[in-house]
Amino acid sequence: METLKKKILYSKETIDRRVKELADAISRDLEGKEVVLIAVLKGAFIFLADLARYLKVQHSVDFVRLASYGSGLVSPGKITVTKEIETDIEGKEVVIVEDIVDTGITMEFLRERLKKRAPASIRICTLLDKKHRREIAIDADYVGFDLDEGFVVGYGLDFDEKFRCLPDIYVIEE
Ligand code: IMP
Ligand code: MG
Repeated sequence: METLKKKILYSKETIDRRVKELADAISRDLEGKEVVLIAVLKGAFIFLADLARYLKVQHSVDFVRLASYGSGLVSPGKITVTKEIETDIEGKEVVIVEDIVDTGITMEFLRERLKKRAPASIRICTLLDKKHRREIAIDADYVGFDLDEGFVVGYGLDFDEKFRCLPDIYVIEE
């Protein structure tokens, strides 16, 4: 792996505990409902895999891939859909599974788009939340960890397509 100065922020044990708590909360809230998890590729793929296995409610999984221009440390604003969901979500309880909410532009875009398919509800479950960076007011219903500053990698999150498969979450040091 490329050497880039980074320090551990959340260990895999800490992440695992928190993901289980999130799954328990979702399981309580959506007990007996028809649930569809929609994960945002690529960043949420590992989070989804762990979350789905801890969920106690029956659910299906689907994926959406949103491309935004640029691959640097700042979140770009222009979004295009490069892979659509394939599930009929009408009347179902949707839980969007995201790696990190930053400006909120991506989540707002996706939520508004999914609304048109008339699901019973749309919830947002994000592993990480940079609330102070919001440019659009949007709240996640389930948040793993609040993050005040820094760019993080690991557990699905990348910097320029690197570091996704590190089991822990690191913050990049300048
Ligand atoms: P938003 O539209 O600004 O909320 O962008 C959210 C997206 O930006 C996330 O899904 C990530 O792909 C990316 N992102 C934002 N902050 C980070 C970070 O610290 N590490 C890795 N990706 C990030
Ligand atoms: Mg992402």
